[in-house]
Amino acid sequence: MEILAFGVQADEKPLIERAFQGHHEVRCLDVFLNEDTALIATGYEVVCTSVNCDLGRRVLQTLAAGGTRMVAQRSTGFNNIDLLVAERLAMTVARVSYYSPHSVAEFAWTLAMAVNRRIVRASTRTRDFDFRLDGLMGRDMHGRTAGILGTGKIGEAFTRIAHGFGMNLLGWDVAENPACLQLGMRYVPKDQLLAESDLVSLHVPLMPETRRLIDADALRTMKDDAILINSSRGGLIDTAALVAELRDGRFTGVGLDVYEAEAGLFFLDKSLEAVGDDTLARLVTFPNVLVTSHQAYYTEDAVGQIIETTLENVLDYRAGRRSENVLVPRS
Ligand SMILES: NC(=O)c1ccc[n+]([C@@H]2O[C@H](COP(=O)([O-])OP(=O)(O)OC[C@H]3O[C@@H](n4cnc5c(N)ncnc54)[C@H](O)[C@@H]3O)[C@@H](O)[C@H]2O)c1
Repeated sequence: MEILAFGVQADEKPLIERAFQGHHEVRCLDVFLNEDTALIATGYEVVCTSVNCDLGRRVLQTLAAGGTRMVAQRSTGFNNIDLLVAERLAMTVARVSYYSPHSVAEFAWTLAMAVNRRIVRASTRTRDFDFRLDGLMGRDMHGRTAGILGTGKIGEAFTRIAHGFGMNLLGWDVAENPACLQLGMRYVPKDQLLAESDLVSLHVPLMPETRRLIDADALRTMKDDAILINSSRGGLIDTAALVAELRDGRFTGVGLDVYEAEAGLFFLDKSLEAVGDDTLARLVTFPNVLVTSHQAYYTEDAVGQIIETTLENVLDYRAGRRSENVLVPRS
């Protein structure tokens, strides 16, 4: 069987081809699956997709009409897939429910320390032989308070690093994580966490209940000199409200690996086009903001695990086996 993989990065292609060798042929495309590209999948029983593919109703209907029976998503998050429609179309949808949470947690910390210690500005200056320290002052993390919203696998890995820095730990989650409690985390209401934390990091999934978790009110509740990090999903933050707060000079630093309107931008080279997104354009002009394009998971270790699990998901589907990675059918 030949599988069609959408949204494949150049680094990923040889890893995917090597993993699937001896099992199934894979045709790798760098374009993302969306309404414009869905017809390419005609005749492919299995398509393999990534976070910025659009698997809404219309795309799923086009896939089903073309003979696609299975979607193998190469990520943990699946907010880009309409599961109810997939179920109605009798498709199988599987994701990668586990891969190195350290990849994302370490990257979230990379953003936090880069904005705290002004690394981008410092690097630009030294390239210009400007060796002044003005404007580069950061803050010790030791003794300060980290607020972690979502203490699952990635939140826990982030918390372990915060503990290593010697920080006070506040958590917010629907379920307390015993490992985080053991590290000294105190679970508190969201507003208390936002009001007391010097560093706020988001690790909850994007769902209807968490959309715009950080809205204008939440931003106003945070300390003026806090650091805000989002390596989860862009839709967790009201970006326009964030821009308004930044314009007022608030926050020591903001690190964003995700952006609510990232689909159609992130993972693509848009450098030769006019910027059509005014919010993103404004966001990147703030000297205390660092935006990266959804790269937190992008380590050899995590990508290797994602591809291995995706292969297992396809083999399970072919053999009629069920695993915890199957989202549809539900049982
Ligand atoms: N930037 C990247 O490259 C990247 C890569 C992987 C994952 N992610 C994001 O990170 C998120 C977290 O991943 P994970 O592996 O830690 O997931 P996880 O399921 O292990 O943890 C999520 C936590 O959020 C909590 N939660 C769920 N709904 C909640 C709600 N309504 N209110 C409060 N807490 C709630 C859960 O109880 C759980 O503890 C993913 O959903 C994904 O969006 C980003």
